[in-house]
Amino acid sequence: MINAPSIANCELLNIGKQIDELIAGNVTFLHIDLMDGNYVPNLLFPTSIVKAIKTKYPNIITDVHLMVNNPDNYIDLLKKYGADYVSFHIDSTSFVIRLLTKIRNKGMKAGVVINPSQRIDIIEPFIHYLDYVVLMTVEPGFAGQKFMEGSLERLDELNNLREKTNTNFLISIDGGIDCPNSIESLKRGAEILVTGIYTVFNQPDGLTNACIRFEKEMNRIK
Ligand code: DX5
Ligand code: ZN
Repeated sequence: MINAPSIANCELLNIGKQIDELIAGNVTFLHIDLMDGNYVPNLLFPTSIVKAIKTKYPNIITDVHLMVNNPDNYIDLLKKYGADYVSFHIDSTSFVIRLLTKIRNKGMKAGVVINPSQRIDIIEPFIHYLDYVVLMTVEPGFAGQKFMEGSLERLDELNNLREKTNTNFLISIDGGIDCPNSIESLKRGAEILVTGIYTVFNQPDGLTNACIRFEKEMNRIK
């Protein structure tokens, strides 16, 4: 189980302090949403946030979720700034295989993101090029939305497809993650849980305690 807090949920004026608190709560993997105001109707974070995080915390794994048109344009910069994982939306480029290969050739882990409105088997033509798949459990673009009905069944479908094709990409789930749906998701094959306001942020005992509590709770299951 990887707890991957989405820093889109941080208070902007306290982001440095909050990242310190997450790391004090054993977080080793940070989910970084980048939005361009085109692919999704919202704007978030410059690519240099990756550089800022890696400069202060070289050992943190940075998981960049590109919600942008023309994701190809950002790969060189992200590599330069130290990104470890890079995922993009399947419908944001015409050349999924070329882009996955480019990300991998630069030594980063390559992933695609599936929206709630897209079929799971959409990934079949390039399944052997994937290090991970992000299954959106909300429509992308905003933090703090509700986990969509039917998402667990879609996760089953993705997990079955992974088994059927004998592939070993990691499965990440993103959007509206809380404790009960995390438990169900782990049972159904997810490895990376992108956490937000229902788990680690906005908890009365603070970020560090919330992360430790969440990890303990999840490790009891798996
Ligand atoms: C939504 C983003 C998510 C989001 C997750 O577009 O991809 O990463 O910030 O946060 P919560 O858990 O608040 O939905
Ligand atoms: Zn995300």
